[in-house]
Amino acid sequence: MRLTLPVVASATLLHPTSARSLLHVDSAPNSVRPYVIEHYAAAQAVAIGQQIYRFPVTGASSGGAFSLLSTASPSSDALGVLPHHHRTHDENFFCLKGRFQLWADKQNSNNNETQARLLTVGDYGSVPRNTTHSFQILDPDTELVGVIVPGGFEELFFFLADSNYTAATNSPYLPAASNSSTGGPPGEVLQTLESFDVFAELEFNPRRDFVNGTAPANSGWHTASNAIPELNGIPYFVAKDYGPIYLNRDFGYQIIQPFVTPVTGGKGFTQGSITISRRSPNTTVPTHVLSNHTAFEVLEGALSLTIDRENAMLIMGDVAFIPGNTTFSYWSDVAFTKFMYVSAGSNGIDQQLLSNAEGWDYPVFPTS
Ligand SMILES: *[C@@H]1O[C@H](CO)[C@@H](O)[C@H](O)[C@H]1NC(C)=O
Ligand SMILES: *[C@@H]1O[C@H](CO)[C@@H](O)[C@H](O)[C@H]1NC(C)=O
Ligand SMILES: *[C@@H]1O[C@H](CO)[C@@H](O)[C@H](O)[C@H]1NC(C)=O
Ligand SMILES: *[C@@H]1O[C@H](CO)[C@@H](O)[C@H](O)[C@H]1NC(C)=O
Ligand SMILES: *[C@@H]1O[C@H](CO)[C@@H](O)[C@H](O)[C@H]1NC(C)=O
Ligand SMILES: *[C@@H]1O[C@H](CO)[C@@H](O)[C@H](O)[C@H]1NC(C)=O
Ligand SMILES: *[C@@H]1O[C@H](CO)[C@@H](O)[C@H](O)[C@H]1NC(C)=O
Ligand SMILES: *[C@@H]1O[C@H](CO)[C@@H](O)[C@H](O)[C@H]1NC(C)=O
Repeated sequence: MRLTLPVVASATLLHPTSARSLLHVDSAPNSVRPYVIEHYAAAQAVAIGQQIYRFPVTGASSGGAFSLLSTASPSSDALGVLPHHHRTHDENFFCLKGRFQLWADKQNSNNNETQARLLTVGDYGSVPRNTTHSFQILDPDTELVGVIVPGGFEELFFFLADSNYTAATNSPYLPAASNSSTGGPPGEVLQTLESFDVFAELEFNPRRDFVNGTAPANSGWHTASNAIPELNGIPYFVAKDYGPIYLNRDFGYQIIQPFVTPVTGGKGFTQGSITISRRSPNTTVPTHVLSNHTAFEVLEGALSLTIDRENAMLIMGDVAFIPGNTTFSYWSDVAFTKFMYVSAGSNGIDQQLLSNAEGWDYPVFPTS
């Protein structure tokens, strides 16, 4: 007798779009609801010079809590935006791919010197309101993830857009020779943008005296631990795996690495990363209900999520938005999954996990 294998519906295997769930959308919704948006999703991208901006979480989709956007770009020999500050928005820079330099200057702080860092994958920089800042993209496939609080700052980028960006292939950006544009708006335009909370600082001269990825030299960048300040409003940087680390053992292992605490987030938001181990088959996945809105962006591995009884699986660069008071659960069916969280308010998923966590010295979990 011949053994016949069951015919597998090949469409299911061949077309990754079948992994899309009812939660999946192509662009951030205009009102608060649960959703998932894939990395490089087609809709709502705009080009500013060679930089492509995408908006997985907007003011509208987060009820005004925060915006989460990304900038995909080739390298540039010039600043990505002319120096400026915001009066009412906190800006948070995270390196998802490639490398960029970030400058932050707050003259009236106790850190009275321009701080500049080279951010590589996983590094974070805090630019609170009234901090003069700029950035420069250094590697050919760089992606900067920005969290801006409160939400709604994307209006600036729609205003500045040279064009809407579409790509049948979902290419991160248009592969084309640079025409030496800075990528940002020219100085004359920047000076007119105060209605968008952009205040030009055209006198600011970004220092170039980097040594081992930092200026001033010897700041301990990628060589010593990076403490998060105990006060709100001053710029700071957290290198990947050099910030505070905590281990929660409630459900497998969860490693919490905060970038923004309730103090540095001014009780408006918290941000950081969570690394989880594979769930073991005999455990029940815990459910969570948070009083405020939360977004996750996957950094490594694969994150399984149930939001309001709908399931989705997310891989690197995919974003989920979970409204406050919505039941959800999350787990990993692969060995090592890491995701960024952004929680509105000061009692987010990080605070829940930290309430039963111990200090931990490693970015990896125990072996047993
Ligand atoms: C260079 O890029 C800028 C920004 O996209 C655009 O406005 C300008 O027209 C381009 N110049 C040339 C010569 O292509
Ligand atoms: C930011 O600067 C403006 C103008 O100087 C000032 O009115 C405001 O209080 C400052 N905000 C913070 C949070 O320091
Ligand atoms: C910061 O440095 C400037 C220039 O050296 C100086 O005028 C200012 O008083 C300093 N501010 C603080 C808070 O130390
Ligand atoms: C992008 O598309 C929107 C409508 O989808 C349109 O209103 C806007 O003018 C377009 N922007 C540019 C820069 O073409
Ligand atoms: C730069 O890094 C190298 C290699 O770790 C080290 O030997 C050197 O002392 C560093 N330079 C400074 C100025 O910190
Ligand atoms: C679940 O399984 C793991 C190994 O897969 C085992 O170490 C653990 O004791 C089990 N827990 C329970 C409650 O059975
Ligand atoms: C969730 O419910 C609590 C209690 O009713 C309420 O205070 C809170 O504002 C709600 N959260 C959101 C985001 O609507
Ligand atoms: C939710 O977060 C906002 C900031 O986005 C904050 O103003 C509000 O008090 C928070 N609400 C709750 C119920 O924590």
